[in-house]
Amino acid sequence: MTTSPKVSILDLQQKKSEGRPITMLTAYDYPGALLVDEAGIDLILVGDSLAMTVLGHPNTVSVTMDEMLHHCKAVARGARRAFLIGDMPFMSYQVERSEAVRNAGHFLKEGNMDAIKLEGGREVAETIQAIVAAGIPVMGHLGLTPQTATKLGGFKVQGKTAAAAQRLLEDALILQEAGCFAVVLEAVPAAVAQTVSQKLTIPTIGIGAGPHCDGQVLVFHDLLGLFDRFTPKFVKRYADLRQPILEALQAYRQEVEAREFPDAAHSFNINEAELQLFLYGGQA
Ligand code: KIV
Repeated sequence: MTTSPKVSILDLQQKKSEGRPITMLTAYDYPGALLVDEAGIDLILVGDSLAMTVLGHPNTVSVTMDEMLHHCKAVARGARRAFLIGDMPFMSYQVERSEAVRNAGHFLKEGNMDAIKLEGGREVAETIQAIVAAGIPVMGHLGLTPQTATKLGGFKVQGKTAAAAQRLLEDALILQEAGCFAVVLEAVPAAVAQTVSQKLTIPTIGIGAGPHCDGQVLVFHDLLGLFDRFTPKFVKRYADLRQPILEALQAYRQEVEAREFPDAAHSFNINEAELQLFLYGGQA
């Protein structure tokens, strides 16, 4: 079996300069990472969205560093080719710069990630600089930033006024200057994301930001129809796996209850003589 070389930051930069779209998906565990990697996706994000999609929380703020690292380790065991990004959870980088650098380091040293992502604009620029100075690649995240969605008035499209769009562009340039290798643009009008993508030399990765970004990202469970508690307008479902999975689980339950499973094909045999010995101790 031939394996393609691992994706690097230089590959992303090259894709941007050649106008070839970058692909990114979230993954949260070993089987998910195996599948996303085999599908040839460039970037895997172990997103803090796992708080909602995997852990059942109502939002992303409650997920902890330990929980994120646990999922990162599993993803890293499954991915061979994709470039791996760990999402820094809420309050792991906002309080102390040295704590932010240390936490970012945990994603590489223990989580086996290649880079980290964190949310925010100018207010996190110096933190990004410090993390990058420590040798850790950083992906930015602008527009709708779920960790601070309450402050933004909910899960709403950002950059809709000229002033807000201008501020978003300035923030993107600040993140680039601070050393980010790429920036996620979430829930931003397509024309605004297009201008930001043209002005930046680093790649933009859009989610709900139209077709002109340098790459696109979706959440694994959204794309596969495995999470139906909250589906933003920008999500495209490429499969509806919830129903077939539910049907398989119900079929299993029914077969066990009807004593149809396990049948002979799924059971093991013992040699007749050994069975007699076992049952009657050779005294039959
Ligand atoms: O946590 C996440 O899944 C994300 C993506 C939506 C970009 O931040």
